[in-house]
Amino acid sequence: MTEKEIKNKRREFLKNIGRLIGYGTLGGLFAGFGRSLWPNILYEPPKRVRLIDPKNLADGMNYFPEQRLFVFKRGSEVWAISAVCQHLGCTVNFVPFGEKVKKKILGEVIEEEWEFHCPCHGSKYTQEGDIYEGPAPRGLPHYLLEIDPATGYLVVDMSKEVKKDWRLKLS
Ligand code: FES
Repeated sequence: MTEKEIKNKRREFLKNIGRLIGYGTLGGLFAGFGRSLWPNILYEPPKRVRLIDPKNLADGMNYFPEQRLFVFKRGSEVWAISAVCQHLGCTVNFVPFGEKVKKKILGEVIEEEWEFHCPCHGSKYTQEGDIYEGPAPRGLPHYLLEIDPATGYLVVDMSKEVKKDWRLKLS
């Protein structure tokens, strides 16, 4: 191979490298542009959810695992308490006592039939969801329940908290 041929080969090689770098950069730019067309959105589960035909609610506690929600029914009254521990989000356990039990909690004697206990770091909540032991900074939220006028089904709105003595009256 002559000196001229070697120079030509080297020039051709360098040109190919240059082309490769150019295409790579262009590809990166297009990929970045394409990605910018997709918004950065986190899809959260819906907050308003159809739960059940209220006729099918059992008296006492009903648990909805997908929503991590307890729905209680007593006579014609229903109410909903979140099962999400307010410390780090573990699911609390429903702890029934089987009878009414008098307990002194935070200096007050209250009667309870059940409590909620968190298996992760030991937070304990009263029957109404008030925190009385452990690291959770607040009680379990109670959520708004409604009857969907179109279907007659029970609907929970987990974007709307209600007071702990709030009750939905079933007709
Ligand atoms: Fe419930 Fe920590 S997550 S006590």
